[in-house]
Amino acid sequence: MATTRTFSIIKPDATRRNLTGAVTKMLEEAGLRVVASKRIMMTEEQAKGFYEVHKDRPFYGELVTFMTSGPVVVQVLEGEDAVKRNRDAMGATNPADAAEGTIRKAYAENIEANSVHGSDSEENAATEIAFFFNKDEIVG
Ligand code: RTP
Ligand code: MG
Repeated sequence: MATTRTFSIIKPDATRRNLTGAVTKMLEEAGLRVVASKRIMMTEEQAKGFYEVHKDRPFYGELVTFMTSGPVVVQVLEGEDAVKRNRDAMGATNPADAAEGTIRKAYAENIEANSVHGSDSEENAATEIAFFFNKDEIVG
């Protein structure tokens, strides 16, 4: 299996509860390496653009409000089969459905405030990484 990269966000519900380190530890324990990281306030324009795929979903407006409600930590993660490895570590979107040992089971508040984002394909990972990082900010 090849070493690949994925994109992660530690969401405002997690930064508010000072869980940046706790979440990152679980990612590292899952075999992922943080090769880029920065704490930012997402602008409304960035949140709308980032979640554009969901623009027709009923939760889009609320999601944009939530993602701009506090700081987030955007990260590039590297590891073997990084997209799947990260999604497995995150757990199901709704913490009520998330498996034991996953980040969302441990920390998510609800289906929206679910602590982490992770790219769902290699193609989306590349797009999402480029959305937030310049090449010289990623050091593997
Ligand atoms: P993500 O994109 O954040 O990694 O999460 P995901 O793939 O597991 O879930 P997705 O279907 O892509 O939804 C994106 C984010 O929208 C919020 N959401 N709210 N209120 C709702 O019913 C609802 N459904 C989804 C969550 O923050 C979800 O992670
Ligand atoms: Mg998604």
